[in-house]
Amino acid sequence: MSNEFLARCGTIFLTLFISGISLASEEVSFKDDLLPHFVYECATCHQAYDPHGGLVIDEASTYVALVGVPSLQLPGMKRIEPGKPEQSYLYLKGINRHLQAGGSGWFMPLGTGMTPELADTLRRWIEQGAPNN
Ligand code: HEC
Repeated sequence: MSNEFLARCGTIFLTLFISGISLASEEVSFKDDLLPHFVYECATCHQAYDPHGGLVIDEASTYVALVGVPSLQLPGMKRIEPGKPEQSYLYLKGINRHLQAGGSGWFMPLGTGMTPELADTLRRWIEQGAPNN
């Protein structure tokens, strides 16, 4: 193996490593990265006229219905607790860990649960303090 080859490998590795770090630390936007998923995947069952679980999910009211609001099923826990994904009932519902926490019902979205990508985005946003950004 030539030195030039090794140097090139090193550069490629470093580039991938650095872009990995910047992806992981990129700030999550509630409006761009989460709200469209919620409206698309959850709103049919969580509409204002008969919201399942007492939770309304639509363009206008999702943020205020989630952040700092006690869960209906598990009132000791908030739907979203800023900074604490493991204490956020919605996150636990999405990764199917809500029953261990003392909650009830199915995981969300009903029937499938969240994709690992959506769950990861949600976790990072909560860790960032769940801003209305
Ligand atoms: C097919 C219908 C359906 C879909 C789609 C759905 N839900 Fe639900 N959701 C329900 C039902 C029914 C309940 C109450 C019973 C239960 O928890 O299983 C509920 C309850 C909840 C609760 C508990 C509310 C509380 O305060 O305790 C949360 C949080 C929730 N859903 C979030 C979501 C999210 C986020 C999505 C989309 C990613 C979603 N749901 C998609 C039907 C649905």
